[in-house]
Amino acid sequence: MAKVSVIGAGNVGATCVNAMLHLNFCSDIVLLDIRQGFAEGKAMDMMQTSKIYQFNTRLVGVTNDYKATANSDVVIVTSGMPRKPGMTREELIGVNAKIVSDVTANVLKYSPNCIFEIIANPMDPMTYLTLKKNKLSKHRVVGMGGLLDTSRFTYYLSRALDVPVSDIEGMVIGGHGDKTMIPLIRMATYKGIPITSLLTNDECNKVVADTMIGGATLTKLIGTSAWYAPGVSAATMAKSIIQDDRKMFPCCCYLEGEYDQKDICIGVPAILGKDGWEKVIEFDLNAEEKKLFAASADATRSTAKILYDQKLI
Ligand code: 2OP
Repeated sequence: MAKVSVIGAGNVGATCVNAMLHLNFCSDIVLLDIRQGFAEGKAMDMMQTSKIYQFNTRLVGVTNDYKATANSDVVIVTSGMPRKPGMTREELIGVNAKIVSDVTANVLKYSPNCIFEIIANPMDPMTYLTLKKNKLSKHRVVGMGGLLDTSRFTYYLSRALDVPVSDIEGMVIGGHGDKTMIPLIRMATYKGIPITSLLTNDECNKVVADTMIGGATLTKLIGTSAWYAPGVSAATMAKSIIQDDRKMFPCCCYLEGEYDQKDICIGVPAILGKDGWEKVIEFDLNAEEKKLFAASADATRSTAKILYDQKLI
C-alpha cells in the first residue's frame, strides 16, 4: 500500500495525478484543493479513464479536507500562484510562502512522517521554507525543478541533433530560475558521445539558452506556467521514492557542505528512495561550472533571505 497526496488540483497538480495513475505505482492518491468541488471533479474525470487505461489506483478528490490525506507516504505541494507572462518565479515568494507554510503545517498534522516534494515557486526557497519552518529532517524535503529543466534540456538537444531524445543523456543543476539553472552541456551525451563534439559552440549555447528560458517561453505562449512537463517530472520522482528505486535525479536538496555550499536548498543530483533523498552525488565540476554553481547559490540564497527579512520563517 502506497499513498500519495497532491495539494492543489490546478494544472500542475491534476497533471501530476494523471501521470501517477498512468505510471501505476500507488494504491491510493488524494487530490486536495481549496476550491469547493474542484478536486472532486478532476478526480472523477480521471477515474473515468481507469477502465481504458487499466489502472486500479483509488483516487479521491477533496475540498480542503486534510484528514483525507492522513498517512501519506509522499505529499506533493503544488499550491500557490503560478507565473504570469513576464513574471519571474522569484516574484511569487511572498504570497506563495504563506500558502506553502499553511499547507505543509496542515499536512503534517495527519502525515507526520511523510516525504514532501515541493513544486510551488520559487521552488528552491519554498523547499527551504518547508524544511526550516517545520523543522524536518533534511532528507524528507525535496524540490522538483532539476528533472523538469533536464527534460527540457534533453528535448532541445534531441532537436538540435535531430535524434530520438531517448538516446540523449544530460543534467541541469543549480537553482530553478531562468538565470540560475546550469545545463551541464560539457557532460551531455548522445549514446555516450559528448554532445560538444557533435554540435558547434553556437548550437550548444543556443540549447543552453533555450533551456534556461524554457518555462518563461511557455508562460508567454500559454498565459500561465507549464504543467505537462512539471506534472510528469513530479510523478516520476514520487515513483522512485514510493518504489524505493533509488534512481538519481537532479533535484533540490538541503546542502551541508556538498558542492562547497551550506544552509541552502538548491538543485544537485541525488538518489531518491523510500526515505526521501538519500544522498547527494558529488562529482567534479570544472572551474567554469564551479563559478556558475557558486553564483547560482548566491542568487538562490538571496531569494531565500527574503523569507527571513519578511519574517516568513
Ligand atoms: C516551470 O518551469 C512551473 O516552474 C515551473 O515551468
